[in-house]
Amino acid sequence: MKDNIQNVHVFWEQYAQSDPLWAILSDPAMKNRQWDLQHFFRTGRHEMSLLFFHLNHLHIQTEKEKALDFGCGIGRVTQALAAHFKSIVGVDISETMIRLADKLNRFPGKVSYVHNQVDDLKVFPDNEFDFLYSNIVLQHLQPELTLHYLQELLRILRPGGILVFQLPSHLRPQNAMAKAAFAPMANDAYQASLRISKIPGDPVGPGTELTLDIHVHNQSRHDWIQPAYGPIRIGNHWLANDGVTMLIQDDGRSPLPEKLDANEKYTGQLLIKTPPQKGDYICEIDLVHEGIAWFKDKGTKTLRFPVRVGSKDDHFSRADIFAAEASRAVEGTPVPETRISAQDLYADLAKEVRELGPFPMHGIHSDRIVEFFKAAGAEVLRMEEDEHSGQEWIGYRYIVKKNQIPRP
Ligand SMILES: C[S@@+](CC[C@H](N)C(=O)[O-])C[C@H]1O[C@@H](n2cnc3c(N)ncnc32)[C@H](O)[C@@H]1O
Repeated sequence: MKDNIQNVHVFWEQYAQSDPLWAILSDPAMKNRQWDLQHFFRTGRHEMSLLFFHLNHLHIQTEKEKALDFGCGIGRVTQALAAHFKSIVGVDISETMIRLADKLNRFPGKVSYVHNQVDDLKVFPDNEFDFLYSNIVLQHLQPELTLHYLQELLRILRPGGILVFQLPSHLRPQNAMAKAAFAPMANDAYQASLRISKIPGDPVGPGTELTLDIHVHNQSRHDWIQPAYGPIRIGNHWLANDGVTMLIQDDGRSPLPEKLDANEKYTGQLLIKTPPQKGDYICEIDLVHEGIAWFKDKGTKTLRFPVRVGSKDDHFSRADIFAAEASRAVEGTPVPETRISAQDLYADLAKEVRELGPFPMHGIHSDRIVEFFKAAGAEVLRMEEDEHSGQEWIGYRYIVKKNQIPRP
């Protein structure tokens, strides 16, 4: 494994020197140092607000003391974890990633970064962390190395602690791949206006289904032709009442006609379901080109309205407080945006962006992962489909709980 880990180090170090943000989130439009730093960090906050709302809903709780982000890169998620834990450590194999993470650290007393270039985590003691997270890291490592790190992650997790990580399982069958192939439209094709006939009256019970009439106007000069580009649908999110913190990304979906010409209008019905926890929320309606983008990210103004979930005389309890806390802590003023400009960030890196090799991808079958944790003294609480490894793979996000040590 020694050669192996040295190659991993060289690979990530070269990328970190060349195009570090794109090496982390490889959106084709952001190649060649095009990522905006604020936007980049916002993706981490978004990822964490969704995860913790979800864990809360599933009644999966952790102590809030100490968390670790394995393969932290420049701290995209590590910084967001600062809103949820008292002390957070990010660890990465690339010294350049760690140097950049330190430079971008807005919580020096709370978040620390560790460079670790070996194939174990001996740098951390046993039973140290309440919560471990790893996203888009293990999928690039050889399976034997991944299993070794998983064993190590379990060792440093305290009994009862939670590990969340993502990993591809196996390749998608070819015919399913053909179905899943979508193509982006021209950038200026994603221009729409959205209207609603009637905003639902407040308040509504948790988990209530509502049917909304949504008027869609293709305001671009392009026809939206789904057989050519892949499905385009009306969809909705649920946000905290700050209007920023994403709590439920995917709720209702309703198809558009197979062809909607430039300037054509259509009215569709969207079935939405209110969040399972009482609270004040914002429902946001948008169009989604599946597998490609939400129209909002291409400049369309979404349709939003507030929804109170509960009853009139509710004194909102945990759910509402959670949403409010998440919004305050994750998106509000106490979490400052980074002041460093992209220019400063890249100042001491390689001058030129280099064309480097593709990211290696490796999967471990989900059955093996479940067995592995069982044998190692932990339980896979949930396996949720995950798309980080691309359309070719079937992948999962695993939520794992380390067993409590049995009483003697
Ligand atoms: C695609 S990036 C993801 C970064 C971060 N998890 C995020 O989502 O923003 C993968 C990161 O994992 C790091 N990495 C890869 N192998 C590693 C290992 N064996 N130990 C620690 N970090 C590793 C890389 O240096 C890189 O920063």
